[in-house]
Amino acid sequence: MAYLQIAIDGPAGSGKSTVAKEISKQLGITYLDTGAMYRAVTLEALNHSVDLQNPDALKKIVDQMTLNMTITKIFVNNVDVSEAIRTPEVSRNVSVVAMDAYVRAEMVKIQQKIALGQAVIMDGRDIGTTVLPNATYKFFLIADPIERAKRRRLELQAKGFEASLDDLVKEIIKRDELDSNREISPLKKADDAIEIDTTSHTIDEVATMILDYVKGLRK
Ligand code: CDP
Repeated sequence: MAYLQIAIDGPAGSGKSTVAKEISKQLGITYLDTGAMYRAVTLEALNHSVDLQNPDALKKIVDQMTLNMTITKIFVNNVDVSEAIRTPEVSRNVSVVAMDAYVRAEMVKIQQKIALGQAVIMDGRDIGTTVLPNATYKFFLIADPIERAKRRRLELQAKGFEASLDDLVKEIIKRDELDSNREISPLKKADDAIEIDTTSHTIDEVATMILDYVKGLRK
């Protein structure tokens, strides 16, 4: 039996995870935040002070950690790291770790296994292109970098972190560059994905738009 698969890709701050969570709630299907998985590997690597560009060191980190996810939380070796993976330090370093071939292969394996037995909505950078190439629906969310930085600043403020808009714009553009130009599974719109510019839309509007596609109300 083929389960419903919804792929949501796009750059940092395009609204993917908030929209995906809302849709998962409305449709009653599993949500997987694949970015959280790359963040968890990054956190673990930083905690062990390993060289993030050393493939052998990253392999050891991945092989020695157990990763568990629920819709809202992520655990490394049974410790809840849902908050710890969102720090600016992890954000600054995650795209380097996400370039690594072994890290990617192991994360994709877990993601594909989760999609095998249930209906899912996943968000990330390579869901429509690599993880779920036959997804029922594929969306690619984009937004103006300044708007994305503003959204990120609000999220960080809610968690008690202060960051200047300027620094956040720079970080977002740098991460877009690294994610779009890496060799393996770069950030890229799948040929058959529907692109949505979220710059001047609220999260609720974008979620409604996607739900309309899924319900066949929008083509
Ligand atoms: O939430 P935000 O948009 O900041 O990013 P995220 O979804 O948490 O992803 C963090 C980073 O993980 C991205 O910048 C990518 O480097 C990497 N990532 C990836 O390579 N492939 C995915 N499917 C998801 C995330």
